Amino acid sequence: MAVPSSLRQSLARSVPQGHQFHEIQEHNVSTYRIAVIGGTGPQGRGLGYRFARHGHDVVLGSRAAEKAVPVAEEVATRLAGVAGAGAVTGASNTEACAEADVVLLAVPYDGHDELVATLPLDGKVVISCVNPLAFDKGGPYGRVVDAGEGSAAESAQRIAPESRVVGAFHHVSAVTLWGEEEYLDHEDVLVCGDDADAKAVAIELARSVTSRDGVDAGKLRLARQLEPLTAVLISINKKYKTHSGVRISGI
Ligand SMILES: NC(=O)c1ccc[n+]([C@@H]2O[C@H](COP(=O)([O-])OP(=O)(O)OC[C@H]3O[C@@H](n4cnc5c(N)ncnc54)[C@H](OP(=O)(O)O)[C@@H]3O)[C@@H](O)[C@H]2O)c1
Repeated sequence: MAVPSSLRQSLARSVPQGHQFHEIQEHNVSTYRIAVIGGTGPQGRGLGYRFARHGHDVVLGSRAAEKAVPVAEEVATRLAGVAGAGAVTGASNTEACAEADVVLLAVPYDGHDELVATLPLDGKVVISCVNPLAFDKGGPYGRVVDAGEGSAAESAQRIAPESRVVGAFHHVSAVTLWGEEEYLDHEDVLVCGDDADAKAVAIELARSVTSRDGVDAGKLRLARQLEPLTAVLISINKKYKTHSGVRISGI
């Protein structure tokens, strides 16, 4: 799915001076400046690595900039010599957002709402891979958000109403993201959201991970189903000693 020209223009406008939003014409692929909130964790680092490997510029964010810098250096070192790789830098979460076209939320659900409320997200495409999960003696399970009428992604949209939130990348494991496979092409990225242009961005970014467009999985409220599904995958991982993912058949 191509990113609509209206979004390209609005993203181009949102890029600060000194940065270039551009399209790689020959492949019809857009490149973005992506802020990863919680980029010092395994999921943010792994997705940041995959995005940068695919030519996007990535800023790994942290509550403490000095914590993000060495993680960014680790990712950049891994990408040294990869033709066409984007830049990877570290910054505070707020600084990372300020310069980004796209913001990936990759933080634990605990503290999520408080953190999102501090971020400058107006006008940004925000991708949430946050899974509200809990664990007890029976294993992992999905937490109930807003008495069953909400999800982490919907909370982000409510807290940052001028942003355009989509849910995606809930089911790709941090271990495989940081692994050696060129693409996780046995997996699909399911994308839910209410803003068609924002959803198109996440669908396109999925190519960095799986080599294919993400799957349009419906409205943002379906994050209520996608987020806790990860508890099932973790349970499968434990039983079969693997890092399972999701693949959709029939499309
Ligand atoms: N791990 C996976 O395989 C996986 C797969 C799919 C989805 N996810 C989802 O992705 C998100 C991140 O996963 P993760 O395993 O990378 O998590 P994590 O390591 O527990 O946390 C990621 C980063 O979030 C920041 N953070 C921690 N507690 C915070 C708080 N209370 N408030 C604000 N920031 C906080 C920390 O960065 P600083 O200290 O640098 O600020 C931390 O490095 C989770 O919602 C998870 O459900 C994870």
